[in-house]
This record gives sequence, structure tokens and C-alpha cells, in this order.
Amino acid sequence: MAIDFFINLAYLLGAVGFVWGLRLLSSPDTARRGNIYAGVGMCLAIIAALVAPLEGANNNYGWIIGGIAVGAIVGGISARRIQMTAMPQMVSIFNGLGGACAVVLAMVELVNMSNPTAGGIGIALLTLLIGGVAFTGSLLAFAKLQGLVWDSTITLPKHNIINMVLLVGTLVVGVLLYLQGPQMSLGLLLGFLALTLVYGFSFVAPIGGADMPVVISLLNSFTGLSAAAAGLIYGNQLMLVGGILVGASGTILTVLMCEAMNRSLLNVLIGGFGGGGGSSAAKGTGDEVAKEVTINDAAIQLYYSQSVMIVPGYGLAVAQAQKVCKEVDDLLEANGVDVKYAIHPVAGRMPGHMNVLLAEADVPYPKLLDLDDANDALPNTDIVVVVGANDVVNPSALDDPGSPIYGMPVLNVWEAKHVIVLKRSMSPGYAGIQNPLFFHDKNRMLFGDAKDSLGKVVSELKGL
Ligand code: TAP
Repeated sequence: MAIDFFINLAYLLGAVGFVWGLRLLSSPDTARRGNIYAGVGMCLAIIAALVAPLEGANNNYGWIIGGIAVGAIVGGISARRIQMTAMPQMVSIFNGLGGACAVVLAMVELVNMSNPTAGGIGIALLTLLIGGVAFTGSLLAFAKLQGLVWDSTITLPKHNIINMVLLVGTLVVGVLLYLQGPQMSLGLLLGFLALTLVYGFSFVAPIGGADMPVVISLLNSFTGLSAAAAGLIYGNQLMLVGGILVGASGTILTVLMCEAMNRSLLNVLIGGFGGGGGSSAAKGTGDEVAKEVTINDAAIQLYYSQSVMIVPGYGLAVAQAQKVCKEVDDLLEANGVDVKYAIHPVAGRMPGHMNVLLAEADVPYPKLLDLDDANDALPNTDIVVVVGANDVVNPSALDDPGSPIYGMPVLNVWEAKHVIVLKRSMSPGYAGIQNPLFFHDKNRMLFGDAKDSLGKVVSELKGL
């Protein structure tokens, strides 16, 4: 009795840790603390689950502690070593492992049938379905983000129809297993497992380019839902609460991402947005020449302007240029220039990527403008400095119906008086398409590594 009280209390405190942690994650200033609170909640949950009495069962402490030790070592080392630019891949692979856990739990349950009621079997099958899709889908998303596969090589002709057939086939086998009940055939169960894994892979295969953010957050919500379903299997309230929190926040993020990309979820799942792209924009016209600016001229222009908008993108993360970017900001502000940052919701490779980088450089949060506010401010801005961004400032999204990113809202930087783009070459961004902004009359290219170029701008500004 007493032990049950303490276990339930630990679960309650764990749930409070999750919710409070999630709340604090909503601002970069408090996010670190939020992570710690959620981590403490998880520790309480693990301890409570370990000491909870299991009637007539072996606690398997050796296996559990061995598993925790391996997980903690691998997780701890990879979290320490990971580069900020590779964070989305890490999130994807950890997400996939969450799906794999749900698959294992569901398989153990379906083979041993600890709860052979219709409800118990239905929940276990659902856990297997969602977990399997999240597992292989996340592994493929990881491979795509890591640049290990190129979208077009894994897209089959009539891929949407293949996906539809696979989904219907998987659901039919799931229903058959449900109808077989506790006496279900092991062969059919393994077939169901294989189908869920193949479907997860095939469902993510044709999605690429600018749609990847949506798919990553969707897979995230799948993992949360599979964890919640696993919580139902074992009657573990905290697993249920944690899963629901992940599932709900992943779903909200998916909706926000869809809104940011101006797409419906169905459109993302069945459309072929992004990827290689065969539009005119993808190829470029060939005879246009992008004009360049020297470091010295760029520094002088910035120094004598009244307002500057910095547009950070994935290249800022690659170059780790956030601190030197802040130095430019400080020098300009000291000269009376109003400096703001325009944050596109899918800039970088993960939601909030730019916010995290700029917070790391102590850029005050009020200086960050979201897409709409930035677009309102751009016509009154003297100079836009695009630091390693490309797709999020590509005008083809607005004026080239043949472009693979047509319809995605972008930062209308060409509406400012002047634009300077910092990048190393004329290479395309994530969506793999050329950017007409680079050839715009108002634009000048400043080629080189962003950190290096901004460092030189700092030296020039100090000398003015
Ligand atoms: P991108 O379009 O990927 O462009 C980044 C640019 O940075 C490249 O053109 C690259 O050009 C430049 N760059 C790379 N390293 C650099 C360095 N060291 N110094 C200076 N420049 C460097 O980035 P974006 O504009 O941020 O757009 C994000 C894209 O990723 C969108 O298509 C989005 O849909 C996709 N995506 C986003 C997410 C999330 S959730 N944010 C997740 C997955 C995919 P050079 O090689 O010439 O330097």
C-alpha cells in the first residue's frame, strides 16, 4: 500500500516535471532549465517503474540496468559530440529509436498476451503500427538529412498508388489479426510487422526538399502516440502522459509547419514538393551573372545605413557565425544603426534552429522578427544581410509556378533597398534549386565562409 502511494506520487511529480519542462522550453532563455526539469521527471519515472512490485514476474533488473547503462553511454557521448548542424539528424534517429521501442513492446505483448482482451490486443496492434512507421520513416529521414540518399533514387513510378496499396494492405492485415484475437498466427503477425516497416520507409521516400520539416515533426508526433499507446498496454500513467505530450506537441508543430509552408498535410503526404526539382528555376538561365561586393564596400554600406535586417539560414549554423554576427550587430548599433533579424520558420534544419543559435550568441529576443513582421519591415529596410540562407529567400516560391517550392512563403528581401548575400559559392540550398535573388539588381554577393566574411567586416567596421 505504502509503496503504491510513493510510486503514484513519483509518477505525478514526473508528469509535473514533463509539463513544466515543456512550458519552459517555449523560450530560449528558460529552455535549458526546462530540459533539466523534464529529465528529472524522467528519472523519477524510471525509478518508480523499477521499484513497482510485479506480481509473480521476474523484474529482470540485470537486463534493465544493462540497457539503461548502454543507452546512457551512447546517448551521453553522442549528445556531447554532436555538432549543432547535425542536431536534426540526431533528433530523427532518436525519434526512430523511440518508434523501435514501441515496436518491441508491442511484439512482446502480442506474443505473450498479458492482456488478451479485445481492447488490449487492439492497442498493442496500434502501437506496433505507429511505432513501425515512425521507426523506418525516421531512419530514412535521418539518411536524407545526413545526405546519405538522394530523393529521386528512392521514388518509384506511381509511388502514391504504391503507398496507398501498402497502407490499405497493412490495415487489412491488422484487422485480420485483431479478429483472430489471442490465438493470432505468428506468421501473420510477423507479416504485419514487416508491412508497417516497409510502409514507414515508403511513406517518407518521396517526400523531400522543403517538405522535410513537416515530415520530421509528423514522425515525432507518431512516436509520441506510439509511446502513449504503449503506456496503455502496461497501464503506466506516466508513459501515457509523456506520450500524449510528445504526440500533441508534435501534432501542433506539424500544423504550424504546414501553415509556415502554406501547405495542407495531405498535400505534403501525397505531393512531390521539393526534392530534385525540374523547373526552370532549378536549372537557372545560364547567362546571368551575379554581381559581387568587396568586404570594404559592404562594411561602409552597413556603417552608413539606418536599418539593417540580418537573415540567418543553414549556412550560419554550418559556419558557426552567430557570435561574429552579433559582433557586427553591436558595432552597427553603437553607430546608431537599427539591426533586426528576420527568422523564417523553416530556416536551418530544425524548428527553432536559428532562434537557438542566436540565443547562444546572446542576441536579445525582441530583435527577432517572425516571417510576417519581417516582411512588413523589409520595404523600409536599407540593407538586408543574408547569412547562409537560400531557399527561404528564393523569389521563385512566389513567381515561378514551375518551381518545386512554389507556394512556400519566403522573406521578400528584394523589397529592401539593398541586399548582400553571404555564401561560399553559387550552390543551391536544401531544395536543390537555383535562386534568382542572386541575379537581382539590388543584390550583391559576398563569397566566402560566413564566419570568415563577417570577421573581416568586423575588422573593417572597427577601422571606420
Ligand atoms: P538552405 O536553403 O539549405 O541554404 C543554405 C545555404 O548556406 C547554402 O546555399 C550554402 O551555400 C550556404 N552555406 C553553407 N555553408 C556555408 C558557410 N560555411 N558559409 C556561408 N554560407 C554557407 O538554407 P535555408 O535558407 O536556411 O533553408 C532551409 C531549407 O532546409 C529549406 O528548404 C527547408 O525546407 C529545409 N529544411 C528545414 C528544416 C527545418 S525544420 N528548419 C528541416 C529539414 C529541411 P554555399 O554552399 O554556396 O555556401
